[in-house]
Amino acid sequence: ASAVNKAPASGGARRVLLFPLPFQGHINPMLQLAAVLHARGLRVTVFHSAFNAPEPARRPAGYRFVTVGASVPIADLIPTGSHGNFAEALLRINEPPACLVVDSNLRGMQVVAHRLGVPTLVLRTGAAACLLAYMAFPALCDKGVLPPQDHLQLNMQLDGLHPLQQQDMVFSATIPHETMSTLIERIVVSSMCSSGVIINTFSDLEDAELQKIIDGMGVPVYAIGPLHKISLGAQSSLLAQDRTCLDWLDKQEVGSVLFVSFGSLASMDQEELVETAWGLANSRMPFLWVIRPDSVQGSGKIGLPDGFEEEARDRGMVVSWAPQQEVLGHQAIGGFWTHNGWNSTLESISEGVPMICRPHFGDQMINARYVQEVWKIGFRLEGKMDRDNIQRSVKKLFCHDQGGEMRRRANNLKDKATRCIMKGGSSQTGIDLLVNCIMTLPS
Ligand code: UDX
Repeated sequence: ASAVNKAPASGGARRVLLFPLPFQGHINPMLQLAAVLHARGLRVTVFHSAFNAPEPARRPAGYRFVTVGASVPIADLIPTGSHGNFAEALLRINEPPACLVVDSNLRGMQVVAHRLGVPTLVLRTGAAACLLAYMAFPALCDKGVLPPQDHLQLNMQLDGLHPLQQQDMVFSATIPHETMSTLIERIVVSSMCSSGVIINTFSDLEDAELQKIIDGMGVPVYAIGPLHKISLGAQSSLLAQDRTCLDWLDKQEVGSVLFVSFGSLASMDQEELVETAWGLANSRMPFLWVIRPDSVQGSGKIGLPDGFEEEARDRGMVVSWAPQQEVLGHQAIGGFWTHNGWNSTLESISEGVPMICRPHFGDQMINARYVQEVWKIGFRLEGKMDRDNIQRSVKKLFCHDQGGEMRRRANNLKDKATRCIMKGGSSQTGIDLLVNCIMTLPS
């Protein structure tokens, strides 16, 4: 029985509570999901920490936002066991919530909700392929397959997870294997203990992976992506987006520009920055490059090399943060050099933009492997980030037949992504089922 308020909701609409992990790549899909549910008549309350709180100016009208401490969700990643603020906030809700939709990393918040009788759904912000790999991870560790024992094993295939290799499941060079194991276990447990798992993907993209998850998970699975295309207008950027780049794109030829962006967290060292700058300039292709203020490790200053700005002035633009979804949908964009965060990957697929892949950590290696081996809509920039390697990769994408083939396949996937969000499409059906589940959950 719920310990949370049982007074009947005024007007009959049910209230959904949502709790994203406070990072851009997790906030975006959660607020897109909020917009989708709100459009279906549900009321929305978003819990967030003071850290990376959603921008007040961009908060959608009609939602409630509740701050839960300075860094509660981050503490949830490191086992501290302190979730008191969230329990208090839940008890203050003055109408019975239908459920809590919680980021799959926030297992601790889920436990609090269950203790107070609030059912949960889990949002997985990554690919289905990634969740499937995480489900297999403990057994691979038990068998001694992971972590790889020496570098010779790195490119060995993982049984049952084709085309993933051992190296795709070495998630971070800096986080110890034991910590990664704990994080992954928590994601899988939170999913299995929920009333359903929501995945930001679509069945034409990851049908086989979704089927295996459904078979192994034991709870309903809802594939309802690409969320950003269904929730048009959902604003959740933590940084101000420089929209002047859209005017600049208007002046470029169709399909001519390479978009370069590595998400909200990945960074490079000063030498890689210099090599990237010259690689782009020497390719002689137009480019739009996002360099966040914290993109370069260990320095407060972005040191673009002398001569670069003069060299690239006529065909390049650098911004500190872009309206990425609109940029990728712009007709001038012909390719995307990405770190393969799942949002970026899905945003690129939705617009039919082929990719140069340079994954950094976490799920990005899995996403890059699928881009290259399964969907064949991009390729990995292997080896050292030097200017010749970069220049060659840009040329391959824009000037070689192989690049053209990738573009054709990417456009094919774009058509499928467009169809799945139309009336009767698989993701719309997924949303119907999800809303029905929310409406009938016992609270
Ligand atoms: C993180 C992880 O790195 C990623 O692998 C995981 O799947 C989600 O969490 P992040 O690294 O930020 O996310 O990458 P990504 O998932 O691509 O999300 C970045 C978001 O920021 C995208 O929605 C993108 O549209 C947005 N963005 C990026 C902008 O709005 N402007 C920019 O200039 C760059």
